[in-house]
Amino acid sequence: MGFWKSIFSSSDPAPSPKALSLEEYAAPGTIERLGTQSRIFFSTDRNIDLYELEELCDSVGWARRPLRKVRRALENSFLVVSMWEIRGARKRLIGFARATSDYAFNATVWDVAIRPEFQGKGLGRALMNYLISKLRREDISNITLFADPHVVDFYRGLGFMSDPEGIKGMFWYPR
Ligand SMILES: CC(C)(COP(=O)(O)OP(=O)(O)OC[C@H]1O[C@@H](n2cnc3c(N)ncnc32)[C@H](O)[C@@H]1OP(=O)(O)O)[C@@H](O)C(=O)NCCC(=O)NCCS
Repeated sequence: MGFWKSIFSSSDPAPSPKALSLEEYAAPGTIERLGTQSRIFFSTDRNIDLYELEELCDSVGWARRPLRKVRRALENSFLVVSMWEIRGARKRLIGFARATSDYAFNATVWDVAIRPEFQGKGLGRALMNYLISKLRREDISNITLFADPHVVDFYRGLGFMSDPEGIKGMFWYPR
């Protein structure tokens, strides 16, 4: 996978919210899969429009969460990764993932989503590989996540293991 950096300056036609630092994504076949008009970018900025994020979460069928709590979650995440399609002057949030961390050993991945019309084109894998590479750069070696049953194989394909050495994830919920 090849990446190259392209930071939008204020004179670029990148629309609001406040100019995000964007890193262009390119992999063999991306243009063919998305059409020549589309360019795909990553960002690690947290100043994402929460309504746009809510719309992305709606599009994959997730239950709505109070925006003030979503804002806090983003503020308190170790890493926030968003994926954008730029088509002419239009910029659209098409993917998202974030990770919490102890800043030393462990990180946990949350809220992985790709907008339905962009699924099945390798973008979910690219988003996760980007997030993992950022965590590895911070010397985080233990990356965990909680996979919905229908996406276990997606994460397996990225190298995640279920129950390594028999270890079970355990949950406590208020009764
Ligand atoms: C799960 C999700 C992020 C995958 O994104 P995507 O862009 O469709 O995935 P990709 O196209 O990058 O797929 C990469 C590989 O995983 C496989 N894959 C994708 N979704 C899969 C699934 N649900 N189950 C099994 N394999 C899957 C693809 O076939 C592909 O395999 P290949 O490399 O052998 O061709 C996306 O489907 C999504 O947002 N789903 C709704 C939200 C969700 O369920 N999030 C996860 C919560 S834990």
